[in-house]
Amino acid sequence: MAKRVLSGIQPSGTLTLGNYLGAMKHFVALQDEADCVFCVVDLHAITVPQDPAELRQNTLNLAALYLAAGIDPTRSTLFVQSHVPAHAELGWILQCVVHYGELGRMTQFKDKASQRDVVTAGLFTYPALMAADILLYQADLVPVGEDQKQHLELTRDIAERFNQRYGETFVIPEVYIPEVGGRIMSLEDPTKKMSKSDASQGAFISMLDNPDVIRKKISRAVTDSGREVRFDKENKAAISNLLTIYSLCAGVPIAELEARYEGQGYGPFKKDLAEAVVAALEPIQVRYRELVGSSELRNILREGAEKAAAKAEVTLQKVKERLGFLR
Ligand code: TYM
Repeated sequence: MAKRVLSGIQPSGTLTLGNYLGAMKHFVALQDEADCVFCVVDLHAITVPQDPAELRQNTLNLAALYLAAGIDPTRSTLFVQSHVPAHAELGWILQCVVHYGELGRMTQFKDKASQRDVVTAGLFTYPALMAADILLYQADLVPVGEDQKQHLELTRDIAERFNQRYGETFVIPEVYIPEVGGRIMSLEDPTKKMSKSDASQGAFISMLDNPDVIRKKISRAVTDSGREVRFDKENKAAISNLLTIYSLCAGVPIAELEARYEGQGYGPFKKDLAEAVVAALEPIQVRYRELVGSSELRNILREGAEKAAAKAEVTLQKVKERLGFLR
């Protein structure tokens, strides 16, 4: 039987090149070999304050971007998390399985909490909801960027604990982190992850940045001392990040790029890199603009939610039975 894949992305503003190269691009490729379920995780987005009109628009935008990037709704299931109530139900149940101490050790929680005056309980219990997203579909494989690794490990622990306590119920999922691109770094500070929440626009490329903006951001991206284009994460963090981006956007191995720019310095390298990023994103942007306001999009999400709910319900019923809930 084909492997089941599940992943999700939050509809909280623009997606970055990091989201694309670390996650979405791999989702598209996995469709060829697996039974894929992809989700716009709006329940996760509200763990921090969201403007309702913006959330609604961001949800549609992200769904359109999934399709524009190549998610094929005839092969994969694409849906909005809040359209399938089983996520919230299983999320609650798993909050009663995960331990307070485990949640408190999550580095993403600690980072996010330290940046806010008010921390919701939802931000704290977020990993239980993420575990529910994955376990509901009995996913074998979860493609994510490096920053989600700890959440995946916790998901496995939660699933194992539940199985041990109540009998075999959940498939234990494997994490899939791309070897190249699992952690795309900021263009302004290569020790920091590229993130849409960065205060500086120059630190990240949005998937919807127009070509001139992309060119400008790349021409201003920090580089390292020296002038060789060489992959060396320790001594040349900035160039290594740019090489990673170039390699993934152009589909050319890093070693080949190093050879191509030998003795040329950073200038020509950056110029060609910008064109490679533009060439990767422009076709997605064109399809995105066609899709985003279309009725087709709403239909795809409606059908996706129906397909997802049918799959999720099977697991949820099993869980309720195991827990001893009266039928
Ligand atoms: P989110 O919405 O922050 O990011 C979506 C995906 O993009 C990856 N990513 C990156 N990859 C490489 N380099 C970067 N700089 C970079 N920035 C982001 C993330 O690792 C992620 O794969 N909790 C998740 C959403 C989620 C989920 C799930 C994922 C909810 N339920 C179930 C998998 C399975 C999140 O906040 O991702």
